[in-house]
Amino acid sequence: MCGIVGYVGHRDAQEVIIDGLRRMEYRGYDSAGLALVVDGTIEWRKKAGKLANLEAELVEHPIPASHQGVGHTRWATHGGPTDVNAHPHLSADGRVALVHNGIIENFAAIRAELEAEGITFASETDTETAAQLLGREIARSDDLVAAMRAVVARLEGAFTLVAVDAHTPDLVVAARRNSPLVVGVGEGENFLASDVASFIAHTREAIELGQDQIVAITPTSVTVTNFDGSEAETRPFHIDWDLSAAEKGGYDWFMRKEIFEQPQAVADTLLGRIDDDGQLNLDEMRIDQAELRTIDKIIIVACGTAYYAGMVAKYAIEHWTRVPCEVDLASEFRYRDPIITKSTLVVTISQSGETADTLMAIRHSREQHAKVIAICNTNGATIPRESDAVIYTHAGPEIGVASTKGFTTQLIACYLLGLYLAQVRGTKFGDEIASLVAELEQIPAKMEEVLKRSDSVLELARDLIDEQSILFLGRHVGYPAALEGALKLKEIAYLHAEGFAAGELKHGPIALIDEGLPVFIVVPPQGRDQLHDKVISNIQEVRARGARTIVLAEDGDDEAVPYADTLLSLPVVPTLFQPLLAIIPLQLFACEVATLKGYDVDQPRNLAKSVTVE
Ligand code: G6P
Repeated sequence: MCGIVGYVGHRDAQEVIIDGLRRMEYRGYDSAGLALVVDGTIEWRKKAGKLANLEAELVEHPIPASHQGVGHTRWATHGGPTDVNAHPHLSADGRVALVHNGIIENFAAIRAELEAEGITFASETDTETAAQLLGREIARSDDLVAAMRAVVARLEGAFTLVAVDAHTPDLVVAARRNSPLVVGVGEGENFLASDVASFIAHTREAIELGQDQIVAITPTSVTVTNFDGSEAETRPFHIDWDLSAAEKGGYDWFMRKEIFEQPQAVADTLLGRIDDDGQLNLDEMRIDQAELRTIDKIIIVACGTAYYAGMVAKYAIEHWTRVPCEVDLASEFRYRDPIITKSTLVVTISQSGETADTLMAIRHSREQHAKVIAICNTNGATIPRESDAVIYTHAGPEIGVASTKGFTTQLIACYLLGLYLAQVRGTKFGDEIASLVAELEQIPAKMEEVLKRSDSVLELARDLIDEQSILFLGRHVGYPAALEGALKLKEIAYLHAEGFAAGELKHGPIALIDEGLPVFIVVPPQGRDQLHDKVISNIQEVRARGARTIVLAEDGDDEAVPYADTLLSLPVVPTLFQPLLAIIPLQLFACEVATLKGYDVDQPRNLAKSVTVE
């Protein structure tokens, strides 16, 4: 939510900043802006709407060359998405420019204080409060780091601030509390950004920052201190993917590319985690095995797509480990006063590793002495840093706002965790684990097979383009798959879609069925699953009431065929793994409907990929 960039070095700062913002536009696209230091003054341009508007503005009103600046792409919170509310914000005297990600909770009180001192505000944002405060402080100290330290001492809430001072050449200063920020370390240049994707074209060496830290970059130095001025601990890391992973590579959308990357992404999640004898090796987990044996309850906490991955995980983990497992939306979790003890294992799932609600759930759980394992895709993000253990999904960067490979790799990580717990706790025999692991190893090839069958999905999208509403049904793990299928369609095609547990149909939702209403149904495997026949009955129930049925059933399921207006067949897998395959046609369907409607698939309206405010 909001992408921010800071740059100082030998390159043209405007080019570096615009390029960095382009790679982070998925974080917010309500407005974009930049501020550069040019000959002792701040030059700035900002525009509501997507980055392209800012680029056009820069063509019309160019800024002279500069080597030092900040940039921002916004997901609006305080103040509408207008030119005036766009970042950067400047102090009243124009000396400092500042960009911000997060929410400053006590901005109203500080604004009143500054207005009483005669400072006039230009915007409605909370951010301008920090800019004006920084302007007042630097007028006193003439030192950007000291001024930033004085500012953060006054602020409450979540923020990453990045600022430049017109009078201080070769310096960019940032402060971080509860919002993401990484440093990119170059040769004769340094970078600050919400996400490494922003500077991956220039360097793959980065530094992870901790909470409540201030970082000052010059072309040749990176200095990190704590808010209280003491020297800070930081962790350098190497980014293990390159620029091509952050580019579309011939696809029309990042989302489509990421759908097609799933076989590889899933293989990467499995890589190195399975021994030759088919047992699991999660040595990277920093939680002691003895401790895992004492766990008497598991709570999975996540948001959005990751929450649906957690719903699938509950079925698998309870089945394999016999440990009771709950799944919570992170935004609800700590407000319901959950029962957490030191023998509770909290599993959080987050692609970005920055989702504010999930992070707060972790802090709440650790305060109650629970152990926390994070399933995460982003190296060095806050969520893995603040957890006791982490299982990285290694999916590579996910840039499309609607999560796809994020979901399937989260599922794989959940299955690995569930099987590992079963192994450690002895609730499954070694050969049972080995046979499930062997099934997981075949998933990439089976995903390839599903992707090869995508023509019928594209045709279906053309047929259903004008529908007003679409339903998705499933039972057992097919239920969260249905929910996730519906979410994709809502997110990117702005189409009303609902997922239901097929068994609940008769308790209300069946009243929605009308002549021709499209209903997708995920059918459990035939013969091996007790629910198969019940779902076939559910299909007949909706069909009898006029629904147009789109049935996702495994190859050879002859009982499903007569009731399918459209059949999308899936390779055979164990029931628990079926969402890994069933979700692919649903992702592709949403992507195609949105494309045909002419929508921006990668940047759907009102959304941001990483939700760093509560
Ligand atoms: C946002 C994104 C979703 C994502 C959710 C959780 O709402 O648009 O795609 O599923 O956040 O994100 P996380 O990074 O924690 O998995």
